[in-house]
Amino acid sequence: MVKPSVLVTRRWPDAVEAQLADQYDVTLNRGDVPMSPCEIRDAIKRYDAVLPTVTDKIGADALDVPKAQAKILGNYGVGYSHICESSARTLGVTVTNTPDVLSECTADIAMTLMLMVARRAGEGEREVREGRWTGWRPTHLVGTKVSGKTLGIIGYGRIGQEMARRAHHGFGMDIKVFNRSKVAPDVLAACNATQVDTIDELLPQVDFVSLHCPGGDANRHLINGRRLDLMRPDAYLINTARGEVIDEAALTQALMFDTIGGAALDVFDGEPAINADLAQCDNLVMLPHLGSATKEAREAMGFRVLDNLTDFFAGREPRDRVI
Ligand code: DGY
Repeated sequence: MVKPSVLVTRRWPDAVEAQLADQYDVTLNRGDVPMSPCEIRDAIKRYDAVLPTVTDKIGADALDVPKAQAKILGNYGVGYSHICESSARTLGVTVTNTPDVLSECTADIAMTLMLMVARRAGEGEREVREGRWTGWRPTHLVGTKVSGKTLGIIGYGRIGQEMARRAHHGFGMDIKVFNRSKVAPDVLAACNATQVDTIDELLPQVDFVSLHCPGGDANRHLINGRRLDLMRPDAYLINTARGEVIDEAALTQALMFDTIGGAALDVFDGEPAINADLAQCDNLVMLPHLGSATKEAREAMGFRVLDNLTDFFAGREPRDRVI
């Protein structure tokens, strides 16, 4: 039987690539160089399946493919705002993602960021490495206690809930939630969380704000200058969702003029390019999109794509179909 042809846009964990090569006529990206929209368009025209990820911008141009061979885009990652939904629908291509398997690790990174910014760990590390540390003193790099504080979570899906579980059961934090739809009472009760109706209502009530909502146009600059002004002057903003959710120019202002306590980001608008002004802010922790970066999560994400492909090519509805 002829194996379906599959193109993978970036390097994936060895174990997953080996299984892909076993089951499919696969083209791997051994050099791991990002593909251009033109190359992705060409792949959609020629391969039975294309397996992209967050670094591939698959806009209307890449999806304008008369007689496309690809009938499925098996996205490696939970977020798929880099794929133009309306164009994918017009083309009639199925899109799947990889939820669940990265929720714990992404929440771990959000906790890491929250602790780092509150306890000034980034500033401390820079000081030690640069040979500027002059020794212990009672007033040195004094941060903010995390335990027992109030955490506001925007977006109470799987990752938001994992964040709440860690913060509430590990650090005794009080949890307040904003979510577009009503959260089931038992889900809130698991972390003794309360749901509020609007983001504007949430922001003034919390010591930490952690973003766990999708990216894309709908949530672009959800956190803007006006909303940063609603945060408490000593509150911290954590983002492991998508860079575009925050207006980075407004955040830079808030950090430079100390109108909030600090921020910690794993994702950036237009990453990997970083707004040079942001990098000047000492009360900011920055990580290079590490949310799901564990061996366990990255392998599980790849195997989840394989499960979706198996279902698709067997004529079944893939479990993680999003478009
Ligand atoms: C995702 O899955 O959407 C992440 O951003 C990469 O893990």
